[in-house]
Amino acid sequence: MNDAARWIDLSGKVAHVTGGAKGIGRGISTALAMAGAKVMVSDVNLEGAEATANEIDGAAMSLDVTDRAAVDAAMATTREELGSLDILVNNAGVYQEFGGPVGDITDEMWRTLWSVNVDGVFYCCRAAAAIMKEQASGGRIINISSTQAVTPGVGVTYDGSKAAVAQITKALALELAPHNINVNALAPGPTWVQGGEPPKTGGQAPIDTGNPLSDTVADRIARLPAGRWADPIEQGKAALFLASDMSSFVTGAYLPCDGGWLTL
Ligand SMILES: NC(=O)c1ccc[n+]([C@@H]2O[C@H](COP(=O)([O-])OP(=O)(O)OC[C@H]3O[C@@H](n4cnc5c(N)ncnc54)[C@H](O)[C@@H]3O)[C@@H](O)[C@H]2O)c1
Repeated sequence: MNDAARWIDLSGKVAHVTGGAKGIGRGISTALAMAGAKVMVSDVNLEGAEATANEIDGAAMSLDVTDRAAVDAAMATTREELGSLDILVNNAGVYQEFGGPVGDITDEMWRTLWSVNVDGVFYCCRAAAAIMKEQASGGRIINISSTQAVTPGVGVTYDGSKAAVAQITKALALELAPHNINVNALAPGPTWVQGGEPPKTGGQAPIDTGNPLSDTVADRIARLPAGRWADPIEQGKAALFLASDMSSFVTGAYLPCDGGWLTL
């Protein structure tokens, strides 16, 4: 008897995906729903969250992950409305507009990015862990980091925030393992989120980090071993592994899904 299909069966599971209105969050929401999970899609962009939810027969809510009281309420509402909270995907994040040379980074840029990319992850982890600890079945937390946590390229603000996410993941994995809660980081490489077909080269303004040796996104795609951008659903497939029984003994991991970026 072939049990493989059941290993990625998430029916009966409830997932909450932050920043699910578009891009990678939408791809992850779609993959989880395809495997049978009921997905609560949240975003500051409620209309976008509702559009994703409609596509996957899920639920939607407005949530700004920087608002700690709203985060607590959102995790509680997910459990109340959908019955449990088994999987949390901390995907909401900001990046491009906060990149650049350190001298150009204002206090406000720094604070804004860190409040979404780091404070938001912390608030969501804290609220979800409290719920998951009460569940005999525990839970799964997947934090979306980036290859930039290891190889900088967008600038001090973003690269630092994604390294923080990777280390927060490990610390939580250690703490929550006795509660049957696995905590892992997924590190996407370049993933085309603009819609339509990704271009072979270019397609995104180069990020000026102030170093003439820094390559542009286009340069990097050109020398990426996979030779192309990822589709958001490919990040969804990697998240599915971390959300399912396929990864029952995996916790504290940093999983690149990057077409070989980190081999360079
Ligand atoms: N696209 C890539 O190449 C890439 C690579 C590595 C990592 N990432 C990470 O993946 C995640 C998703 O990125 P993406 O490329 O899909 O971005 P995106 O801009 O397409 O989508 C991000 C979503 O997050 C939402 N969001 C922003 N601030 C929020 C807040 N305060 N509260 C709730 N939602 C908020 C946005 O409304 C948007 O729907 C981010 O954490 C990003 O850092 C992306």
